[in-house]
Amino acid sequence: MRISLTHYLIRCERQHGTDANLRLLIETVARAVKTIGHAVGKGALGGVLGSLSTTNVQGETQKKLDVIANEILVEANEWGGHLAAMASEEMDTPVGIPVAYPRGHYLLLFDPLDGSSNIDVNVSIGTIFSVLPAPAGTSEDEEAAFLQPGRNQVCAGYAVYGPQTVLVLTLGHGVVAFTLDRDTGSFVLTQENLQISADTREFAINMSNRRHWAAPVVRYIDECLAGKTGPRGKDFNMRWIASMVADVHRIMQRGGIFMYPWDQREPDKPGKLRLMYEANPMALLVEQAGGAATDGRQRILDIQPTRLHQRVSVILGSRNEVEYVTGLHAAAAAG
Ligand code: AHG
Ligand code: MN
Ligand code: MN
Repeated sequence: MRISLTHYLIRCERQHGTDANLRLLIETVARAVKTIGHAVGKGALGGVLGSLSTTNVQGETQKKLDVIANEILVEANEWGGHLAAMASEEMDTPVGIPVAYPRGHYLLLFDPLDGSSNIDVNVSIGTIFSVLPAPAGTSEDEEAAFLQPGRNQVCAGYAVYGPQTVLVLTLGHGVVAFTLDRDTGSFVLTQENLQISADTREFAINMSNRRHWAAPVVRYIDECLAGKTGPRGKDFNMRWIASMVADVHRIMQRGGIFMYPWDQREPDKPGKLRLMYEANPMALLVEQAGGAATDGRQRILDIQPTRLHQRVSVILGSRNEVEYVTGLHAAAAAG
């Protein structure tokens, strides 16, 4: 029997007591993701390619699809009654729920369009989202309500818009994947209990930044490149899609390690990727699939955020490999 997203979520309610409002929230995000996927698929015919003249809070030039995807997610989620507020990589400050609608008990955070540099070249892109409980006694649309460590997430997921549109989810009971049936418009469960292999021979990093990396990262990648006759005693393969969603999705399917570490280009920034919209949701998914995620020193999910748009160094994927790289950082710190 084909199991739809709704069927799976109702099964979670019965097995794990998952809140029905969380189901409504996820179904709404899934509807938005379908709309975004549809816009992505139109490409030049839909007039969705290219850049705007605006920049986001991180100073990055916005692509048309960054803004379109953000609007689709905000509009889909503001009226359902399950959310207290939303925050996005593409919005300077959190948005509350319009007074016309009831407020719920969850906070939704998203990277509406991940892999923006790949939009115009027809390479896989995605959407990443994270759900936190709205803390009692705070004004939910204030930044402070969102500043919770990633381990508090009650749900995280991503959609990858590739040859297929695939939605990957965790509600804290393992990781599942749904494929969009383009004939019926339904997300159908296609993988249950996704597991990332503990070991790997494949790494993902933007090698062009090598000269800017910290010493433990240089050492690790050099060891991989040395192959069979080097200290690791095996040959490694390299992949870099430049869409975190697509790189993480490959790791979900066949293992690997993904790194976007701190580097000296902007030494005051802890990294390129955003903790709340990218690192935390991916870290929860990866851990739920048996992998690991650190910033080189500590578990990503234990980082106490201090700012909504803060950045972080990211090392995630196959558990033994992530532990090895984290060990190299500890050794370097110990001198
Ligand atoms: P976004 O498009 O949301 O800004 O994120 C892009 C991120 C991530 O998806 C990817 O891994 C990385 O930036 C690519 O960076 P480089 O272009 O520096 O390789
Ligand atoms: Mn991104
Ligand atoms: Mn983005």
